[in-house]
Amino acid sequence: MPTSYYLTTPIYYVNGKPHFGHTYSTVIGDALARYHRLDGRDVCFLTGTDEHGLKMVRTAENEGLTVQQLVDQNSAAFRNAWKALDIQYDEFIRTTEPRHINALNEISSRVYSNGYLYKGTYSGWYCVSCEAYAGEGDQNVNCPECGRSTEFMSEESYFFKLSAFQEKLLNLYRERPDFVVPQARFNEIISFVSSGLKDISYTRTSFQWGVRAEFDPAHVIYVWFDALTSYISGIGYGADPARFQRYWPAHVHIIGKDILRFHAVYWPAFLMAADLEVPYQILSHGWWLAQGEKMSKSRGNFVDPLIFQKLFPVDGLKYFLLREVPVGFDGNFTYEALVHRINSDLANDLGNLVSRSLKMVETYCDGRIPGCGGEDPQLRSQFEKTAEAFHRNFRSYQLHRALESIWEFISAANRYIVTHEPWKLAKDPVQRSQLESVMVNSLEVLRLLALLLRPLLPETSRQIWESLGMDPSLLFISWNQVRWGDLPPGGRIGVIRQLFPRIDKGDFMEKLWQAEAQEPGVTDDRITIEDFGKVELRVGKIVLADRVPRSEKLLKLHVDIGTEKRQVVAGIGKKYSPEQLLGKNVILVANLKPARLMGIESNGMILAATESDLPILATFDEEVTPGAKLK
Ligand code: ME8
Ligand code: MG
Repeated sequence: MPTSYYLTTPIYYVNGKPHFGHTYSTVIGDALARYHRLDGRDVCFLTGTDEHGLKMVRTAENEGLTVQQLVDQNSAAFRNAWKALDIQYDEFIRTTEPRHINALNEISSRVYSNGYLYKGTYSGWYCVSCEAYAGEGDQNVNCPECGRSTEFMSEESYFFKLSAFQEKLLNLYRERPDFVVPQARFNEIISFVSSGLKDISYTRTSFQWGVRAEFDPAHVIYVWFDALTSYISGIGYGADPARFQRYWPAHVHIIGKDILRFHAVYWPAFLMAADLEVPYQILSHGWWLAQGEKMSKSRGNFVDPLIFQKLFPVDGLKYFLLREVPVGFDGNFTYEALVHRINSDLANDLGNLVSRSLKMVETYCDGRIPGCGGEDPQLRSQFEKTAEAFHRNFRSYQLHRALESIWEFISAANRYIVTHEPWKLAKDPVQRSQLESVMVNSLEVLRLLALLLRPLLPETSRQIWESLGMDPSLLFISWNQVRWGDLPPGGRIGVIRQLFPRIDKGDFMEKLWQAEAQEPGVTDDRITIEDFGKVELRVGKIVLADRVPRSEKLLKLHVDIGTEKRQVVAGIGKKYSPEQLLGKNVILVANLKPARLMGIESNGMILAATESDLPILATFDEEVTPGAKLK
């Protein structure tokens, strides 16, 4: 096995901001990357953004932005989200970068000169949302992937000779029985390829936002070949041969099952056409659903992952994503399940173990790690079982099981404390050495937990390490140095913090809505409380009212707002006569810029509801002082 380990997430479309599903793939990638770094391997973890294609053009039009503005904004939003979630990627590739465009030209020229591209006309149905060809023929078809309606396209196009790769692909699948994980999805791919492959469109001529083909500049390269190439452009293909050699072929492409065909069929065929090696493995995870439907940008049924960080530590989200659903399966997202996981597993099992152990050391041992203590053989053997299962599961992408095994260790440690009742031992000086043994064993558990949690809950791991008062550099020892019994005696423990405060289920939704409302314009055009605060609303008493000559609608009013009288022109004359209005208390928007209506200056606006075209004034059901502010 090579010592390098190259892994990728999909590069995400930037027609919107990162969502829950993107976060899922990225969190899996981050955990694997961290795990293999701790194995001493030379890891490169790549993510990035997919910025070309018709979808970007359409979205930019809708949002009144240039395409470049749209992709710049949203690509930055992805980088910011990964930063906020403490994702440690090594490479971030954007398909609009020159290094990517050069690499795409390089591989395209090779495929072209190898004879795998030819000119023709593409006529058929296209799904803009999936950026995918949905079929030919006269009959309009819905997209087989997402079910949306498709558009008819007919244009000059170069074709990629995918049909030439059927046998080569089937050979690859035979030689590499774990090329696609999980197996059930691999079987679908094998049967798809076995049933025959058609050549596919490689270029387009009906729009401009893409990479122009060097072999024929009237064409731009189909966004999917453009996007897949980011896996090699990001590690120096065509520019830095040493770096490319060092990392290619990728160990694993992590993707969702929606884009498996592109990765398990088109991508290896394309690489073969350019005489390049194919990736070692494709990990195809399932979908997060909300009320049974795939969470997606276009359905708008997703949760903004960044909202959660306002409500609990980011590791809470990582834990939920990795623990709740086995990689490969679909999972239903509910707030109840999220809150339950955090409260029961993190606040309760883990949080209590950490805080109770440390507090006892603080109280019974003056905050010092006792010098000696007999090891508990049962706890030790539970650790050894846990570590074995942890590594086995990590290597087979069973991250939920890796976490499960850690939680078995946590339970064993909680039981250990309950059984040994250190609070009783502490009362009896004769049992001092037993008490110290219980403390040493409990702290040893915390030390090992911090080490095991490193790839999965990195922030939590760091906090446990810190509160043990351990040397920060020792947190990065490699896996083969992680073993029972290395707790250094005599050290002083650090500050005891609550890792995961319990979430009150009743409060949670309310806090979530508040957090969402504070997010500037993420989901809709609601305003913030600060925006609203800019509007000055005051109680005004109408002290003078007159009709505006030649208008049946407009009235000229003088409104007393305590400090001054304002002249306001109001369009309420169809409903109210001037006499009716005298002495009424109304609501005035007091800080509106002056305006002129039929030549008369108006300094403010009076609030009224409109019903069947007639205004009804907003008034008060009790006497109020003119000038009083409304909030
Ligand atoms: O397809 N559940 O980008 P994309 C789980 N640019 N994962 C989900 C998900 C969900 N509900 N929704 C999205 C593209 N994902 C292309 C990829 S790669 C060369 C080009 C994740 O923004 C999952 O990994 O539509 C899925 O494959 C990916 O986001 C699609 O992101
Ligand atoms: Mg998608």
